[in-house]
Amino acid sequence: MNAAAEIGVIGGSGLYALLDDAEEFEVSTPYGAPSDPITVARVGDRRVAFLPRHGRDHRYPPHRIPYRANLWALRALGVRQIVAPCAVGGLRPELGPGTFVVPDQLIDRTSGRVQTFYDEGAVHVSFADPYCPAGRAVVLESARELAPVDGGAMVVVEGPRFSTRAESRWFTAIGGAVVNMTGHPEAVLARELALCYTAIALVTDLDAGVEGGPAVTHEEVFRVFAANTERLRGVLLNAVLQLPAERTCPCPTALDGIKLPIALP
Ligand code: ADE
Repeated sequence: MNAAAEIGVIGGSGLYALLDDAEEFEVSTPYGAPSDPITVARVGDRRVAFLPRHGRDHRYPPHRIPYRANLWALRALGVRQIVAPCAVGGLRPELGPGTFVVPDQLIDRTSGRVQTFYDEGAVHVSFADPYCPAGRAVVLESARELAPVDGGAMVVVEGPRFSTRAESRWFTAIGGAVVNMTGHPEAVLARELALCYTAIALVTDLDAGVEGGPAVTHEEVFRVFAANTERLRGVLLNAVLQLPAERTCPCPTALDGIKLPIALP
């Protein structure tokens, strides 16, 4: 049994398994159990850990996901680079269902979620650029055949309801490209552990405010995600093989010069 892994994939709605011939590990953390046991397998010459964000039976809605336990557990296995697929609504007419977006910014509209590991001391990580530049470049290249959109701000709402038309129009007006419910605090918790974190967003619907279209439905989101799971799986396995073995991006230095009140795994 070898639980060690360098790369983590946190699967979104509809992506409950990624790896073949994987071993499964129950990991406990100071923040409780992660969403599910973590499966670990070799992909090429890399060791990859997969964790379904909502649990494999989708028992955790976005606002109840044990985000801290998930990030901590992955780091405890040795993971230093994370690729994080998720379902999103498009906030612009040209970002319709089936479009892949690799966001470069995030706008937090969640409320009441625990979003730090550091409840003591002065730990203020830089978050101007929430995503790993090296990871973004690899994912964009790995998804090239799918013509992914390079950049855009992901608005993260509290959910679990979808947005009103007025909220949705406002998200577009403030510069949002896509909207989802899980991108925060996942990205910032990764940064707080000095992990590389790259989101890959699959548009499942046009959000309610876009061109006065129909309301977003749960059924639509899951149907479109399911229809694209195989394409997404291909992109992820491709990306995992191309992530650099040596990290030269700024992510590993996120905590340099900061006195941490807790020991990291
Ligand atoms: N996830 C997928 N589509 C979404 C939408 N329109 N709003 C919030 N989260 C979503």
